[in-house]
Amino acid sequence: MSFKRLATLSALAITAVNAANFRRVTCPDGNIASHAACCPFFSLRDDLQNNLFQNQCGEDVHEAVRLTFHDAITFSEQLKREGKFAGGGADGSVLVFPTVEANFPANLGISDSIDNLVQFLKNHTDVSAADMVQFAGAVGLTNCPGAPQIQFLAGRPNATAPGPIGLIPQPQDDVTSILARFADGGGFTPDEVIALLSSHTIARADHVDPTLDAAPFDSTPFTFDTQIFLEVLLKGVGFPGLGNNTGEVSSPLPKTDDEDVGELRLQSDFALARDPRTACTWQGFVNEQEKMMSAFKAAMAKLAVVAQDVSKLVDCTDVLPPATPPTGKPATFPATKSRADVQQACLIEPFPHLTTDPGAVETLIPHCPDGSMDDCDPIQFTLSGQMEDDDS
Ligand code: HEM
Ligand SMILES: *[C@@H]1O[C@H](CO)[C@@H](O)[C@H](O)[C@H]1NC(C)=O
Ligand SMILES: *[C@@H]1O[C@H](CO)[C@@H](O)[C@H](O)[C@H]1NC(C)=O
Ligand SMILES: *[C@@H]1O[C@H](CO)[C@@H](O)[C@H](O)[C@H]1NC(C)=O
Repeated sequence: MSFKRLATLSALAITAVNAANFRRVTCPDGNIASHAACCPFFSLRDDLQNNLFQNQCGEDVHEAVRLTFHDAITFSEQLKREGKFAGGGADGSVLVFPTVEANFPANLGISDSIDNLVQFLKNHTDVSAADMVQFAGAVGLTNCPGAPQIQFLAGRPNATAPGPIGLIPQPQDDVTSILARFADGGGFTPDEVIALLSSHTIARADHVDPTLDAAPFDSTPFTFDTQIFLEVLLKGVGFPGLGNNTGEVSSPLPKTDDEDVGELRLQSDFALARDPRTACTWQGFVNEQEKMMSAFKAAMAKLAVVAQDVSKLVDCTDVLPPATPPTGKPATFPATKSRADVQQACLIEPFPHLTTDPGAVETLIPHCPDGSMDDCDPIQFTLSGQMEDDDS
């Protein structure tokens, strides 16, 4: 046997190993997937992008991201130990029983995303409700500049019962009970809780102050940046609306004018940013985009599989659109604010040096992803499938 022949044989062996590692299947619709179980998600991805998210990081994306949390956290190790029904975690129970969990007090506003995703379940029958919830959140995040592409595993079975009431944290809860709930709901550490709260960088409240629609938690609600971690540390000076609401504390940027609503601050975000157990992790994300992205990505991977059997799931991350890169703009004090407004609670680390946005007065926070305050109503279906004219 010649040397040449041997070389050819070993080259063949290497090709076979590579083929095993990079196995590909051609889906019925022509897409190439890493596993047949990923095939249904290509058309769902395009459908969600075109017919719900409109390829933006707007209201429908924000709601879908919040839903991933409210579905998943509805699980309790303690209830399980006590032999009671513990909930199914990331099981899609919010969609399978669309009028049960939606009426829990902690779920005010969540029906918007439930009613929308229920419509997409109807024409993507090969996708479980549980996968629908986590996939929609993962696809939506890719529209937000600075959000990482998170892991998406497929194959969760459909929920068989609604989750128990009382497991979703509320903004009026104290830090001890919030941390305990996250530990019980999926083994989350205090650091992971703060990493998950990066999501409040793309968040606006409709129900904390019933007189306000879409009151943002930071000054850049359509960008997945670190402003949330900076702005929650600034001294509160007033309320964007009437104030005195349960779970709300005073905000550093309360200026409200017609369509544009001032920043609203949750009591829970305020407290977690200042508590000795979490303050340094919180401050550590200020102007640390990459660090925040990787911590959020890791914590979301854990959230998406609460109470699920991971060994039965298939990695379909490669179906997701690529992430939208960060804007590259460093964190800045909003106009009129400076280092003097920071209520620093982590004293063992220096506070980062940041510049202040120009402007002699507090600027308004844009109402739409394109920076304008024009009409940018979200897509909203009713549970029965009608398109709703919704301007919240
Ligand atoms: C301490 C835990 C948490 C509390 C108390 C909390 C509370 C809230 C509240 C009160 C709202 C406003 C809802 C409204 O009035 O419309 C909200 C919005 C939101 N939350 Fe949280 N949250 C927590 C953790 C999380 C986590 C872990 C995630 C995701 C990983 C998340 C994602 C969001 C998003 C994306 C929104 C914005 C929804 C929108 O703009 O429509 N939250 N949260
Ligand atoms: C699936 O349903 C949604 C909601 O009803 C709709 O917007 C979308 O166009 C449908 N997609 C397809 C491919 O029929
Ligand atoms: C899950 O339930 C939905 C309805 O809630 C249904 O459309 C879908 O086919 C079910 N999927 C699986 C995988 O059982
Ligand atoms: C604040 O709300 C409480 C009830 O939640 C009420 O008793 C109190 O009068 C309110 N205070 C103001 C200043 O509106």
